[in-house]
Amino acid sequence: MSATAEKRAVTASKPAFVSRMVEVASATADPVRASEGLARELESGNILFFPRMPFALSEDDRAFLLARKQTDAGYHKNIAYRPAEDRLTGAGKMPARDAAKLKSILKAYSDWAAQFLNERIPEYAGRWVRDFASYRPIEEKGRKARLTARNDLAHVDAFPTRPTHGDRILRVFVNINPTKGRVWVTSETFEGLAERFAREVGIPGTGAHMFGKMARALGIRQWSRSPYDAFMLRFHDFLKENSEFQRDCVKRQWDFPPGSCWICYTDMVSHAVLSGQFALEQTFLISRHAMTLPEKSPIRILERICGHPLSN
Ligand code: SIN
Ligand code: FE
Repeated sequence: MSATAEKRAVTASKPAFVSRMVEVASATADPVRASEGLARELESGNILFFPRMPFALSEDDRAFLLARKQTDAGYHKNIAYRPAEDRLTGAGKMPARDAAKLKSILKAYSDWAAQFLNERIPEYAGRWVRDFASYRPIEEKGRKARLTARNDLAHVDAFPTRPTHGDRILRVFVNINPTKGRVWVTSETFEGLAERFAREVGIPGTGAHMFGKMARALGIRQWSRSPYDAFMLRFHDFLKENSEFQRDCVKRQWDFPPGSCWICYTDMVSHAVLSGQFALEQTFLISRHAMTLPEKSPIRILERICGHPLSN
């Protein structure tokens, strides 16, 4: 085999861009030192893993959360807490007292996650927007959903209703299940996937940028998504609908044990959740201008491929 062919074969079987797990001590006397390099790990597509739950959840609150069963009316989706409006959604019908308690626990989780992020990734301080928090009480194994809403198929995240214009989707998860892990599979990161599939998904032409800009200026909401957001949504669906990719993609399985916490850029780490029940999650939209490795952010990767800007 020629040297080039050999190199190609190695590349084909071992993709260059896969996520690693980076274990971090949960509590530390010196958070500044402990934060060193973590932004770079996240931006390289790795998952920060904290084995012992850094979020203090009282036994009473945990028991209350675990009692929210999927059989409760209205539990078809995750329960969300919207910090900006201090509002709970998706909780279905429940007594007002329970709804108030659930909201206060999710608010506490959301506040804790914001503080934890500031402490652990000081590079981002003041450069993010707190998006929704969620409680995930439904068993993921066998959960029924339409294909593009299924979370057991590998994908990168994109929000249909909250365009990011190139800002990054960072998520902080905690597994509050007392006995069972939450099992994820990750595949190649966006870097590798975009290289392979962006053209097939259809990269936006130069006109798309001006069109989006005009639509935003005119306040036309459904078009105010940037070409970047439109692409990421198409990319999300493309990956889930591509059965060949789902079957053949490189897979690494991770078991996040009870009481652990993990953080990653889910717009970059391709992920699927195979099983697990009872997790808390907080999403942050981190400014794309806060990146320590800007060339690795999905918007810059796509702009390199297209050769023109995809947002302003
Ligand atoms: C997802 O973002 O696809 C779901 C992750 C999870 O709930 O563990
Ligand atoms: Fe996802």
